[in-house]
Amino acid sequence: MSASLTDFTAALPKAELHVHIEGTLEPELMFALAKRNQIDIPFKSVDEVRTAYRFTQLQDFLDIYYEGAKVLQREEDFRDLAMAYFDRAAADTVRHAEIFFDPQTHTARGIPFDVVMKGFLSAMEEAERTHGLTTKLILCFLRHLDEDDAFKTLRMSAPWQDRIVGVGLDSSEMGHPPRKFAKVFAAATEMGFKRVAHAGEEGPPEYVREALDILKVHRLDHGNRALEDADLTARLAREAMTLTVCPLSNLKLCVVQTREDHPLPLMLAQGLRATINSDDPAYFGGYINDNYAALAGRLDRDDFAAIARNSFLGSFLTDAEVSAHLKVLDAYLER
Ligand code: HPA
Ligand code: ZN
Repeated sequence: MSASLTDFTAALPKAELHVHIEGTLEPELMFALAKRNQIDIPFKSVDEVRTAYRFTQLQDFLDIYYEGAKVLQREEDFRDLAMAYFDRAAADTVRHAEIFFDPQTHTARGIPFDVVMKGFLSAMEEAERTHGLTTKLILCFLRHLDEDDAFKTLRMSAPWQDRIVGVGLDSSEMGHPPRKFAKVFAAATEMGFKRVAHAGEEGPPEYVREALDILKVHRLDHGNRALEDADLTARLAREAMTLTVCPLSNLKLCVVQTREDHPLPLMLAQGLRATINSDDPAYFGGYINDNYAALAGRLDRDDFAAIARNSFLGSFLTDAEVSAHLKVLDAYLER
């Protein structure tokens, strides 16, 4: 890959639309928080943690990811976690980030919803102050749990409603189709939340259809397997549905076997509004610029510029905010 192309993508103004904040927990911070909070973790060293990160499917990763999240106990832990990500994202010229968080991972351990929120909000304010990085929060329901549990979580979010832009759906996809969460997504819609869902990462095209038709999502997280269905692919293109694609995650979780097989070039060729994102960067071997770089051999400058443009177009910013970002992007491209 050419150095100049990766330099070009590294400095490209961009938005990140698919990152799980609990998935930005680096092993070093995991150990520091374990010590600060006197929590036992099943690893002896940072190296041992990194060697454990060999996955053959989504569930292998999720088991370790939920284990790691146990070190998060106090408001300052959530703030430190988010701030470390914001510093890292700003260094990758991310101008706007919409981050997922999994409240049930914390409330199930007795951590109050308020503690989680206060920690994140404090980091979000600091990110804007210190980096000019704007951020939004998306509350994800864990799909391996039942819909009643999701409803409980939605009720907990009510006092914080104006600080959360939308709801999402993550965790184990297979066997937990979007339709399982039809009622809670409808209730979230009534409350004014935007909607996104992971679909078509491991799950079949039918799950993508359910995310569109039943959950009425504004964005699709991953969406890779939609490509198996030509009608569905054409519909996604026609509806200008944003896909939040995560190349290094796809490789680590064996959704895609090699970089050469990654479907992103095909998605662009089919007219899909694809974006590039990091998913769980501490676990998958790279932040957003590493994800752009992973496809440098397969895409050119115009492709990457289109992807960065898509990232702002697919965001939950206002039209005026999107236009302002696109102007900055255009100025960068003219240079
Ligand atoms: N897929 C599904 N659920 C998740 C992921 C993912 O990549 N990361 C964190 N929760
Ligand atoms: Zn994800």
